[in-house]
Amino acid sequence: LLVFAGQSNRPLAQAICDHLGVPLGRSKTEKFTNDNIIVHYEESLREGDVFIVQTFSNPVSDSIMELMLMIDAAKSASAGRVTAVIPYYSYARSDKKDSPRISIAGRLIADLLQEAGADRILTMTLHAPQVHGFFKVPVDHLSADLVLSEHFRQCVPDAHNGVVLAPDAGSIKRASQIARRLDSGLAMIDKERLSDTEVRPRALIGDVDGKTVFIVDDEISTAGSLVETVNIARSMGAKDVYVAVTHGVYSGPAIQRIAGLDVTQVASTNTVLVPESKVEASNGKLAVL
Ligand code: R5P
Repeated sequence: LLVFAGQSNRPLAQAICDHLGVPLGRSKTEKFTNDNIIVHYEESLREGDVFIVQTFSNPVSDSIMELMLMIDAAKSASAGRVTAVIPYYSYARSDKKDSPRISIAGRLIADLLQEAGADRILTMTLHAPQVHGFFKVPVDHLSADLVLSEHFRQCVPDAHNGVVLAPDAGSIKRASQIARRLDSGLAMIDKERLSDTEVRPRALIGDVDGKTVFIVDDEISTAGSLVETVNIARSMGAKDVYVAVTHGVYSGPAIQRIAGLDVTQVASTNTVLVPESKVEASNGKLAVL
């Protein structure tokens, strides 16, 4: 088993290696002055079972390009099997033609990964689970639900008296699974997305009055959804609010929005690297699990 990593989240790759008790493979990525990228493995991959850890962030396009090159170079170096470990597949948000003449990057990137030579994909909490079907090679689609539920239980020992709140219809299945794990109540927001950064809640379905509320989602990007979800939960009488998501992307105004938010904590897993500066700027509300 050989584990290598691109540049997007090396601490996660190192943690995976520490857990497995294997060293992180030696490889180098360089960028030329014209922005072209070259990757170079510094050890043999011949017949190896190669895993390449690369999350789509930091910046997204560079991380995708680097992963393509790492897969291609691994194949050229006679690797036996290549698994692309993509903890956060950011383009799972682009999964259908929902307006005329638009791109569907979730499918295109799946095609390109296979064309580059990926034999298997390992990923986590796809924004649209059906993106799984864009791949012809086997996909292991992992879930962080257990981690998020255990986190809530640790923060709030009587979590069973609380309510898990789904910020939109798309996240109700995940919310319901977490509510079952916590043995808690369940509520949902009927939300309308106005633009990339703005959403409008229409109604909260369920009862959060006087209760501890656990908001779960696949990701926080600009935190627009989160702000609206917290505000409506508060206006309906929520007592304490805890938030946990799989992917903490925290783009654009997210950190500023979270810093001013009336919540106890906003937690995410480590699929995306969250710099310490963002944790500090959030008034200490951010936690990485
Ligand atoms: C929405 O459909 C998703 O489940 C997330 O709520 C959304 O992607 C988060 O985006 P933002 O933080 O920009 O509102």
